[in-house]
Amino acid sequence: MSGTIYVETYGCQMNLADSELIRGHVAAHGYATTDDPAAADVILVNTCAIREHAEERVVGRLTDLARLKARRRDLVLGICGCMAQHHRAALAARVPALDLVVGPDAYRRLPALLAAARTARTGDRERETTAAARAGGDVDPRVDVRLDPDETYADLPTARAAGAVRAWITVMRGCDKFCTFCVVPYVRGRERSLPVDAVLAQVRAAAASGAREVVFLGQTVNAYRDGDCDLAALLRRAAEVPGVLRLRFTSPHPADMSPALIAAMAEVSAVAPQLHLPVQSGSDAVLARMERGHTVAEYRGLVARLRDAVPDLALSTDVIVGFPGESPADFEATCRLVDEIGYDHAFLFKYSPRSLTKAARWEDSVAEEEKSRRLAHLIALQEEISAARNRRWIGRSVEVLVEGPARRSRDCVAGKTPQFLTTVVAADAAPGTRLMAVVTGATAHTLIATPTDAYAAGRDASRAA
Ligand code: SAH
Ligand code: SF4
Ligand code: F3S
Repeated sequence: MSGTIYVETYGCQMNLADSELIRGHVAAHGYATTDDPAAADVILVNTCAIREHAEERVVGRLTDLARLKARRRDLVLGICGCMAQHHRAALAARVPALDLVVGPDAYRRLPALLAAARTARTGDRERETTAAARAGGDVDPRVDVRLDPDETYADLPTARAAGAVRAWITVMRGCDKFCTFCVVPYVRGRERSLPVDAVLAQVRAAAASGAREVVFLGQTVNAYRDGDCDLAALLRRAAEVPGVLRLRFTSPHPADMSPALIAAMAEVSAVAPQLHLPVQSGSDAVLARMERGHTVAEYRGLVARLRDAVPDLALSTDVIVGFPGESPADFEATCRLVDEIGYDHAFLFKYSPRSLTKAARWEDSVAEEEKSRRLAHLIALQEEISAARNRRWIGRSVEVLVEGPARRSRDCVAGKTPQFLTTVVAADAAPGTRLMAVVTGATAHTLIATPTDAYAAGRDASRAA
């Protein structure tokens, strides 16, 4: 059955990569991708379950999209991803316009599920039964949320955005850590890694299509393992692929930062000096209740080893404020740690209870206004720190991998430094070009730079392309 599909993505980079996988897989079954939901035969919303707010946004959006069904009797509206897995059949009851609820391990069956749903929409009961049987026997064609501990989609084609400078490649799926606040292990299932050859084939394909930076993805990406090949070995092998200038990985878990991985970061020049290392809290009591598997002192020691090994390492983090039982003193300890480490960037969240998790059974003891107060305080602190960290680059020469025109200035291009700092350069250069530039200004979120003579705009060969 052919047609057009519109996929809208919420949540983390792994969901973005999954949407590319979905587009590639259904394209092989006759579906063209469209950017216009009103023009699609199938609308699929790929969702996140990490906080309640993320789920509320999706329910609102589904309600909007459902209006398109009034005009298009045969339109199929589906939800996939983590929220689909989180609420399963209850979602179809809450949003009656939904034709499909598909969990993150059921994408292989999407062509059959779509065929069944579309046949049902056109009212042909006989064909629906046949299609449903093909979709997996006794599985309800509207809800497929079977988690599969072996599913990696390693053999399925991915439809990567053409011309993108950065490729996001999922190398492992699921999570076995069960931090007490987190829904991921319940909605993504058990940890599993892609075969190393499948990952390297994707790296080669991305480089061949013009990607210059590759980011390996996994919820605990440094738990990657295929036989003897861990993430450190995978990075070393990926660095040998021609065309790959930079390698990154996210998110690593502090407890899995092995000496071999730190050595790979230090020794392999393509591995960028940048790490997103979620800390969640600066209080040992809170970390213990979160079951993060490390103390503040261990985290501090890890950061010291990383900074020793990797000069100019940029660090970012995630912090949750208002976790059950977080006292004012616990929160102050978090602020002190954030200040002491000096992160280049931080993602800061108010605790949101998630059903299925252990912490959801505890009292959500910090009042909403207090959570908001703590969040605002930490955001203000981090803004100051980010601005000061960025100012340290003024006067220094940096390498910028150009991604495209700058958003605000037509005479400039924007890209990232190895530290993943967004940099605006007064130059005209094609995406994928490497420019050397001197930093002349900085805000909390952006560096401003002027190209240096040796690489002055126009000299780079890729401009001719
Ligand atoms: N796998 C990553 C985290 C992925 S989720 C890791 O372990 O580091 C991204 C971030 O969302 C988490 O680091 C955490 O800070 C936040 N988060 C997860 N569950 C949350 C919840 N219930 N409430 C608020 N923030 C949450
Ligand atoms: Fe969630 Fe913890 Fe797994 Fe990260 S490591 S995805 S926070 S359970
Ligand atoms: Fe959200 Fe699922 Fe990613 S819960 S953060 S989309 S793995």
